[in-house]
Amino acid sequence: MNSRIPGFYKYSMEERLKKVAELVGLDEDDIKILKSFGDVDPSILDAMIENVIGVYPMPYGVAVNFRINGRDYLVPMVIEESSVVAAASNAAKIMREGDGIESRASEQIMIGQIQLINVDSFEDAKKKILENRDRLLEVANMQSKTLSRLGGGAKDLEVRYINTRKGGMLIVHIYVDVKDAMGANVVNSMCESIGPILEELTGGRALLKILSNLADRRIVKARVKISKEILGEDVIERIEYASAFAESDPYRAATHNKGIMNGVIAVALATGQDTRALEAAAHAYASRSGRYTSLSKWYSDEDGDLVGELEIPIPVGIVGGATKVHPTARISLKILGVKTAKELAEVMAAVGLAQNFSAIRALATVGIQRGHMKLHARNLAIMAGARGELVDKIAEEMIREGNIKYHRAKELLEKYRS
Ligand code: MEV
Repeated sequence: MNSRIPGFYKYSMEERLKKVAELVGLDEDDIKILKSFGDVDPSILDAMIENVIGVYPMPYGVAVNFRINGRDYLVPMVIEESSVVAAASNAAKIMREGDGIESRASEQIMIGQIQLINVDSFEDAKKKILENRDRLLEVANMQSKTLSRLGGGAKDLEVRYINTRKGGMLIVHIYVDVKDAMGANVVNSMCESIGPILEELTGGRALLKILSNLADRRIVKARVKISKEILGEDVIERIEYASAFAESDPYRAATHNKGIMNGVIAVALATGQDTRALEAAAHAYASRSGRYTSLSKWYSDEDGDLVGELEIPIPVGIVGGATKVHPTARISLKILGVKTAKELAEVMAAVGLAQNFSAIRALATVGIQRGHMKLHARNLAIMAGARGELVDKIAEEMIREGNIKYHRAKELLEKYRS
């Protein structure tokens, strides 16, 4: 097999699929699965990335019970991991017993960076840049008339000095209010547009001109209170221990935060967001003190009730990008009924907090394997060919026997069928 295929990108989608099928020996069924576009226009997906040969369906679930900022939401979630949607719905059910989840986002400010090297005098260069602040912002803002019209756009800039193994550098930050966009495109264009002016002002060279994914000016704070009557004092104390563990130990914090991102990313996928930007932002923000820690904290308040707080950067958009072109992403926004990127970010943080609660409550009490095993058993039953009622029947029997294996699922399926 030779992977060198000149002009592969120029082939039609059909031709590319045929070529790959020939090269690696895909059969008719494989091809049919790759081509299961349903009612989605293949040309939309073909235009989104390069070298498209098909689609990859993922389960699309809806988490129920969410009450956020006094409003009810149905939350679409796309994820390959079982139990995430159930965990979110369960947590949301408990959380709505009180006041629901409160979630508030800051302004939607993204940061762009321009790296200036070979600058002679850092002090002079900084002075010149700051003296020309208005002109620089004006040029940056010429990149998006729409943003400016909406009251957004480049608002400020800052000059930082950093010392590196290649010597000192000036790093110019521009702060851009991106409103309902994720903002990467507009911020990158703005950075590129002022690069030449910065070179002219400083005599240095503008090398990298790009968005920073440490979106620490686009923060959402979500908070929930769950009464001790619902959870009981013992469970609350266990959850506090779990939180303390994550706050103090990076090995645990990484997993604790992964649980939060299970919720955040599932909504991100459903709404066509850049999931890598969200992951990068979250984990970089978790390290902002110099030591990686948990993004959330759980403690008991003066009444002995449990309070959970999450602080997380959520750079998402509802205009532009996949959100606008992907038909399913558009439907997700319809299901959510969010009107702004800020509101979407607030919902996503709330889902992250709910997800986190379910995970640590299970871990601090019964453990997570019990729930996982049930789902694993169901998956094996489905893989063995069971459908409908037989799925649960076979799964339950394997759990009862303590023998959760594919070949056992097959045997049970044959038994039931005969
Ligand atoms: C699994 O996807 C997520 C958890 O590991 C999160 C956690 O440990 O808090 C359960």
